[in-house]
Amino acid sequence: MRNLTEANLTDAVLAKLEGAPDARFKQIMTSLIQHLHAFVREVELTEEEWMTGIQFLTAVGHKCDDKRQEFILLSDVLGVSMLVDAINHRRPGGVTENTVLGPFYVHGAPEIRNGDDMAAGWKGEPTYVAGRVLGTDGEPVPGALLDLWQSNTEGFYDVQLADTGGRQLRARLRADDEGRFRFRTIKPTAYPVPTDGPVGQILDRMGRHPMRPAHLHFIVSAPGYETVVTHLFVEGDPYLESDVVFGVKNSLVIDFKRSDSEAEAEKLGLKAPFCKASYEFVLRPAAARAKQQKVTSAVDAARA
Ligand SMILES: [Fe+2]
Repeated sequence: MRNLTEANLTDAVLAKLEGAPDARFKQIMTSLIQHLHAFVREVELTEEEWMTGIQFLTAVGHKCDDKRQEFILLSDVLGVSMLVDAINHRRPGGVTENTVLGPFYVHGAPEIRNGDDMAAGWKGEPTYVAGRVLGTDGEPVPGALLDLWQSNTEGFYDVQLADTGGRQLRARLRADDEGRFRFRTIKPTAYPVPTDGPVGQILDRMGRHPMRPAHLHFIVSAPGYETVVTHLFVEGDPYLESDVVFGVKNSLVIDFKRSDSEAEAEKLGLKAPFCKASYEFVLRPAAARAKQQKVTSAVDAARA
């Protein structure tokens, strides 16, 4: 293996994978090397550009710590996170769609009861959210667990703030025996992803804004059903068409209807004016997903 050239170098590198014992690892590395080499050839990368790329990835790594994950952010703004999500959560119509988890989920949020306020003490437009968790046959999913989190009106999640005195604007809530849930909060607002690192610089170089349309985060789970990781977006938000992480789906955009009714507000434990939103989450039985995966694997095997 000497005198390698532009023409045969890729094959020489791929040949080095012959002894890799893990078939999936070998498949992934083979494809990665092929695409990486093809990219370098296609753009005829200069040495300066290669070094800029190395320095950029180094800076992304340096920006990461136990609270900040710049690599996930990079994956998000390049559409890789949503592509991985789409490939791994192919669902039939009618089942609630997934979208990105995002970097601000925290395990062990405080539990609240149906009707409670998860934004107690936070300024914002009072909002009432209610709905049901159903299975694909329309059956209620009693006791489904809803993990909820959102940013404040300045666009920050509690984990981004220096001292929040505990978990805020996040909660866990259990649906009742009929799969119904309801909670009070503040209306979510659009916010920028963090731009003080290398990902902010690359967005700028691409001529892109860093905004995400207003949304509430949900993880909806129940034994025997496939977990849904998703958002509900606010209809009318100016960034719905240009979400920086490509996460918007029509089925997840809902009306946060404004009401001035003092009487209704009082009944719901809020002050007028307020917003009201509702949604039905539809979960697929886990057995149905397993069946689909079996079919997909059979098709893949037949293709191979
Ligand atoms: Fe978010």
